[in-house]
Amino acid sequence: MASAVQNQLRDRGSNPGEYRFPPGFERNLIWFAWRRFRPANPITLFQHLVDKYGDIAHYKIGWNHIVFLNHPDYLREVLVVQNDNFVKERTVRRSRMLLGEGMITAEGAPHRSQRQVAQPAFHRQRIPEYAATMIREAAGMRDSWRDCQERDIARDMMHLTLNVVSGTLFRADLRNEVHELADAINRIMGLYNFLVMLPAAEWLVHLRPPGLAAFVRARKRIDAVVHRMIDAHRNRHCDGSSLLDMMLAASPDRSADSEKLLRDQVITIFLAGYETVANALSWTWYLLSQNSECERRLHAEIDRELQGRLPTCEDIPRLRYVEMVMAESMRLYPPAWAMGRQALKDFQLGDFFLPAKTTVLMSQFVTQRDPRFFPDPLRFDPERFSPEAKARRAKFTYFPFGAGFRQCIGESFAWMEGVLLLATLGQKWKLKLVPGHRVEPEPLITLRPKFGMRVQLEARG
Ligand code: HEM
Repeated sequence: MASAVQNQLRDRGSNPGEYRFPPGFERNLIWFAWRRFRPANPITLFQHLVDKYGDIAHYKIGWNHIVFLNHPDYLREVLVVQNDNFVKERTVRRSRMLLGEGMITAEGAPHRSQRQVAQPAFHRQRIPEYAATMIREAAGMRDSWRDCQERDIARDMMHLTLNVVSGTLFRADLRNEVHELADAINRIMGLYNFLVMLPAAEWLVHLRPPGLAAFVRARKRIDAVVHRMIDAHRNRHCDGSSLLDMMLAASPDRSADSEKLLRDQVITIFLAGYETVANALSWTWYLLSQNSECERRLHAEIDRELQGRLPTCEDIPRLRYVEMVMAESMRLYPPAWAMGRQALKDFQLGDFFLPAKTTVLMSQFVTQRDPRFFPDPLRFDPERFSPEAKARRAKFTYFPFGAGFRQCIGESFAWMEGVLLLATLGQKWKLKLVPGHRVEPEPLITLRPKFGMRVQLEARG
């Protein structure tokens, strides 16, 4: 299907005279990219475009036109109104090296059918079934922690959410493999910026130059775990209700192509389902450690609503402040920090007329810190997500889960997991950032804390 989309893109003619481009860089960024090899932090670039050119800005890399959008009206136009004219194509090319043709990277009919197969596992009515596993995993971690211990909470959250996603959606116990899996994924993330800037990395990977050999090795380790999980599932008697059962049932045969597609589907849900939530939680612990009044209110709500017992699914609607804290954390540190689309045909955006193949970029990180939509944007203030404040705010100013028909399929899952994990861990522990620890967001596939997140545990009385 990817090639069908590529053909569609190739077929569109263009007439340069007709176009009206937004303001932006005169200089072609390819020179900058070649000179520096690695791009500057893309968030810095986006912010610069917004500060200098406003809500829509244009630049070129090589022959490619790129526009960056920072206004809810433009976002709505691309993600909803004109969504038929936009595909992910070029913007996910590098992610395909890891994810293959899973739900995030697929287009058209293959995307629709994968989404249809997976949908029942994410239905609102199914989500409560997963709560017990989430709480059990969080309670296990909570009880293994010791007072005054120093931990890298980013690493802990990765392991916790990996166990949750495997135990719920795949009904698999990966406890013994979780370190191997997380290490291999970290290896790939470490190479991500290098890969993004490498021309034709998809082809070079077959020649295995030094950096890419490490990528191939890490991908093999991930694949091995995924294949073991699939085989174990096949050999068990399953009731057909887990996401993996559904994927296996929809897989037509055991040909190499079908097995590869199955692997792509599994790995996509795996990565999308754990990295994002783990990062959201790491940033939330960090923000709580820096805002003692919010932390106090969070603890007070947990104590009041749970009275010392473990949470259940039924408690979630009452843990409203916990949810507001998570929402505000994802405003400041959105795990998915940017999204991209590519136009199939020439298109109009406001006063501008742009050619087919233009890449359109949007950034949760930048728009959600815009003072027009979130006054005093750098202040951590969960009250921005009270029901009244939410009702007052324009749509598409807050979009951590995307929007339109490619909106995150795991959104309800993620909210529930976040709230239950924060409540279970926060019931017993206060997390204090280790003095002097450097905290810096690193925009890779997700927004990770570049140096991890070292905290000291303090038992709550
Ligand atoms: C805090 C947690 C999460 C965040 C911030 C997040 C964010 C996003 C965003 C922004 C997109 C849309 C990307 C685009 O349109 O280009 C997306 C898509 C997706 N997410 Fe999530 N996600 C989260 C959790 C999850 C979980 C828990 C799962 C599964 C268990 C999941 C699975 C997916 C999948 C499969 C897609 C592709 C949907 C499609 O294209 O139809 N995500 N996510």
